[in-house]
Amino acid sequence: MAKFYITTPIYYINAVPHIGHAYTTIVADVFARWHRLRGEDVFFLTGLDENSVKTVQAAKEQGFTDIQAYADSLAKLWIEAWKLLGISYDDFVRTTQERHRRNVYELFKRIKERGDIYKGVYEGLYCEGCEAYITEDELVDGKCPLHQKKPKRVREENYFFKLSKYRDKILGHIESNPGFIQPEARRNEVVSFIKGGLKDVSITRPKIEWGIKTPDDPTQTIWVWFDALCNYLLPQDYWPADIHFIAKDILRFHCIVWPGMLLSAGYELPKRIFAHGFLTVERKKISKSLGNVIDPAYLVEKYSADVLRYFLIREVSFGQDGDFSERSLRTRLNDELADVLGNFVHRVLTFTRDRFGGEVPEGKLDKKFEAETHERVQKIEQLLEKLKVSQALEELMTIAKRGNEYFQSCKPWEAIKSEPEKAASCLLNCANLVKVLCVALAPFMPSTSANLAKQLGVKVTSWEQARQFDLKPGHQIGKPSVIFTKVEANNLGSKVR
Ligand code: MSP
Repeated sequence: MAKFYITTPIYYINAVPHIGHAYTTIVADVFARWHRLRGEDVFFLTGLDENSVKTVQAAKEQGFTDIQAYADSLAKLWIEAWKLLGISYDDFVRTTQERHRRNVYELFKRIKERGDIYKGVYEGLYCEGCEAYITEDELVDGKCPLHQKKPKRVREENYFFKLSKYRDKILGHIESNPGFIQPEARRNEVVSFIKGGLKDVSITRPKIEWGIKTPDDPTQTIWVWFDALCNYLLPQDYWPADIHFIAKDILRFHCIVWPGMLLSAGYELPKRIFAHGFLTVERKKISKSLGNVIDPAYLVEKYSADVLRYFLIREVSFGQDGDFSERSLRTRLNDELADVLGNFVHRVLTFTRDRFGGEVPEGKLDKKFEAETHERVQKIEQLLEKLKVSQALEELMTIAKRGNEYFQSCKPWEAIKSEPEKAASCLLNCANLVKVLCVALAPFMPSTSANLAKQLGVKVTSWEQARQFDLKPGHQIGKPSVIFTKVEANNLGSKVR
């Protein structure tokens, strides 16, 4: 059985997730579900990066003296959020777990045995927001442009990793594997960064209490990025990862430092790294100080997880920056989900119930319509193969749109009187289209797909089912009910934390 190993970044726990974190995790979930549905042996890993100074700062701010107790309470909230969003991860790693520490030690040991670790002095700037060293020329007005914070000036005796030794190998790998870093703009960014000169990186820090101590030298703590990246090796049997999903903010760690560590330790490199863009809220950076940090739980409660999943994937062209606004979410819910998808399936199911006693009628399969649908499903597959997830969802919606047109042009409510066979055939074909939609929706909107499956009286077990019009006359459907309810403009709110 083909294996498919997919990851998200492991997130910092200085706060609960916001829609930016939800976005990456939802996209990864869509792919995990799609590959499972295709019968592959999928492993989907997500988790938390807990060994950061940010954890300590947040714990203190919230009055915790026991940092681990703070980490445990935050982990609970992250796990709850992913449950609400229907995230089907196979394992959830926390870097304070013993299994993770062992993993980090193993990698450290291998790299050390290679002769790639040496002691040196680091003198310069450290941004606690990035959890990374930063150079003078990266600063804007003396601050880290990403975190709007002044970095700390440090002079530290650390252990360094000979990253520069792997410069040519990393560059060679990127250049001979065009799909390794995606999208292309990110790949170019990495290439030019490497060409600009690659320095060794410091991989331990002195005087840091919270974190994993360096093997054989407890005065040093392992740099949180070295520590965190090791999480991906946790399911050893699944390595190399088929895709690391990240956003553009952590590109260099994943595309330069991580490959360097793996090459040194003698592991294969991940197959693909996809760095998507950044989400803003109402065109503004998501930030606590701006008060626009939207809790996904609020949106789930108000609109449902599937509506949020649909919105984020459909709205943001995967790879580009995108914007979140509740107004646009409502427009997509009302105009696309309710008016197109919901309307089509509801018309078909209620007509079948009211006019055919809930049985898919006897009729003629429309081969042309079936072939055209099949082509669209194939297009969805091709798009998903290329990680073009927003276009894949768009294509899926054209199937529903086409269904509405088909129903409208057959006019079964009229035909039932004068040409009952025509009405019956229309419903046979439309019921099959509803089944195709139900299967194709499963990776994107799992609850909606399950709900539709129940209404249709089918079980979704394989993506193959999306390719066939195999719902037979006489098939008994379940009880139809509305799948999407519109939300009116005056019901707009903006609960933020
Ligand atoms: N802990 C590190 C990652 C270690 S992975 C070995 C970290 N954590 S983070 O909490 O800051 O998460 C960064 C990631 O969260 C981004 O790469 C992206 O996946 C997601 N996002 C956070 N804010 C986002 C937006 N505003 N928009 C889109 N994605 C965002 O970095």
